[in-house]
Amino acid sequence: MISSIPLSATLLAALSLTAPALAGPLASPKRGLVFTPNNTTPEDDKIWVQSPSSLTWYYNYGESPSAVFDEVPQSKFEFVPMMWGVSPDTSNITFLNTVKSLIKDKGINITHALSFNEPDLSWEYGGSNVDPESAAQAYVKNFIPLRKMGVKVGLPACAGHPEGLVWLQDFLDKCSAILSEGGSKKNCSYDFVPFHWYGNFEGLASHMGSYSAVFPKDKFWITEYNINNQDLGSTQDFYNMSAEYFDRLEFVERYSLFGAFRSDVSNVGANAAMLNRDGNLTDIGAWYLGRPGTGVDPLSGAGKSKSAALRLGLPQLGSVWLGTVVAAAVLLGA
Ligand SMILES: *[C@@H]1O[C@H](CO)[C@@H](O)[C@H](O)[C@H]1NC(C)=O
Ligand SMILES: *[C@@H]1O[C@H](CO)[C@@H](O)[C@H](O)[C@H]1NC(C)=O
Ligand SMILES: *[C@@H]1O[C@H](CO)[C@@H](O)[C@H](O)[C@H]1NC(C)=O
Ligand SMILES: *[C@@H]1O[C@H](CO)[C@@H](O)[C@H](O)[C@H]1NC(C)=O
Ligand SMILES: *[C@@H]1O[C@H](CO)[C@@H](O)[C@H](O)[C@H]1NC(C)=O
Ligand SMILES: *[C@@H]1O[C@H](CO)[C@@H](O)[C@H](O)[C@H]1NC(C)=O
Repeated sequence: MISSIPLSATLLAALSLTAPALAGPLASPKRGLVFTPNNTTPEDDKIWVQSPSSLTWYYNYGESPSAVFDEVPQSKFEFVPMMWGVSPDTSNITFLNTVKSLIKDKGINITHALSFNEPDLSWEYGGSNVDPESAAQAYVKNFIPLRKMGVKVGLPACAGHPEGLVWLQDFLDKCSAILSEGGSKKNCSYDFVPFHWYGNFEGLASHMGSYSAVFPKDKFWITEYNINNQDLGSTQDFYNMSAEYFDRLEFVERYSLFGAFRSDVSNVGANAAMLNRDGNLTDIGAWYLGRPGTGVDPLSGAGKSKSAALRLGLPQLGSVWLGTVVAAAVLLGA
């Protein structure tokens, strides 16, 4: 499926699909946290902001900042609000009002906002399950006014499969049509283009090529990515190659690895997790924060749970974000 995506020679050259340097990169200001806290292990939450940490921003799939980071100034660790999905009344502007209030009442310098999370996937796969027309209506109501206030806004973050781009182009057409109603022709406006990826490095580069072909002048944010359910060596290779790639590409503005959790609750496989079963940073976790490796095996530690499924690192049903990865795995035939 991945190889069916056409990639021009020019694009391939532009993306430099050559072997990257052996050692992975150190700290990067592009790096952020996808914050997926778990009530049973609140002691892990502060790990991401302990010094030294290369992380400069975070999102939590929600509209409001996470209280646990209240002490950390927005200028050091930027909260980026997200409107996860769309309610049946697409003229609902709760999101817009919340962000305005964060800025005006709470004095938080919100400079970027994320729109819908995997609207192209159904709820059972963790997507927000929104059709392009409803998404366009909600986007025009909530995000166009934010742009006018100077907040930079991202297009919806589609899942890592070719259908995501089809959804996105449909969305852009619908959004442009709404903005052009009864007046001169206008294009849907946005500031950056987020997307997700689960799979190997070649697939990631190919998917990036597809986005580059459609959005040749735009900045990208990779707001969820990892290689799921692979051995430790392959997972670490993928981590180093993708981090080096994102840091090198000028049009990749930000990225956030999906993996800020313990290996025993990971739904992307234990080796992709940034913490072992006891909440110690693994090599990848430490590298991501810009620190030297710890040598901690993701599978090590006693863990908190007695469940056999957890010990085997099997996917946990019922989490908000689980489906993303399951869907990616299904779609990619992983
Ligand atoms: C990945 O990068 C780190 C440094 O960031 C380095 O220590 C490690 O050896 C690299 N691993 C591989 C498999 O290249
Ligand atoms: C409006 O949207 C917010 C999320 O932004 C949601 O919590 C709320 O339930 C929605 N209201 C209605 C009436 O659907
Ligand atoms: C808000 O943050 C932006 C980007 O970091 C900065 O340029 C701007 O000066 C800040 N505004 C305020 C009021 O602090
Ligand atoms: C809309 O975007 C297209 C493609 O980038 C461009 O050719 C066209 O001039 C734009 N239209 C307006 C009204 O800005
Ligand atoms: C791992 O975490 C446990 C529990 O917090 C701690 O006691 C231990 O010292 C840590 N081990 C390493 C190698 O950091
Ligand atoms: C939170 O952790 C517990 C075990 O410590 C686990 O049972 C539960 O599934 C986790 N929740 C999520 C959403 O991963």
